[in-house]
Amino acid sequence: MAEDLFVRARSAMRKAHAPYSKFPVGAALRTRDGRIYAGCNVEVVSFPEGWCAETTAISQMVMDGGGEIAEIAVVAEKLSQCSPCGGCRQRIAEFGWPETRIHLCDAEGGVRTTLTLDEMLPRSFPTEALS
Ligand code: THU
Repeated sequence: MAEDLFVRARSAMRKAHAPYSKFPVGAALRTRDGRIYAGCNVEVVSFPEGWCAETTAISQMVMDGGGEIAEIAVVAEKLSQCSPCGGCRQRIAEFGWPETRIHLCDAEGGVRTTLTLDEMLPRSFPTEALS
């Protein structure tokens, strides 16, 4: 797996604002043209208002001009392979393609699994649906 993405995701995880769940998460994505964006989860006392690490990373990409997600790594301090939630899978799909790689890592970098977006979100609501 891409070591640089893991390092960036782990560094982002350390910035997590997760005082309620105490479950810090970091994510880092690489665009098709090679840029890297990272993010952490941000929680809010009104719980549904918080958002995920993957969402922060995607927001950073969009604010920097957008792009397509070639691969994304997710790291959680307390889970050996943190799987992106359903909402984040759909957000990754918005900017990815079926072969986009999703790397699930542990906080030490020891346990890693790579899956494609198509494996993680089969038969998804297609981005072309509204065209
Ligand atoms: N979380 C993420 O940041 N990404 C995921 O894919 C799963 C869950 C966060 C949301 C919340 O702040 C905490 O983990 C516990 O659910």
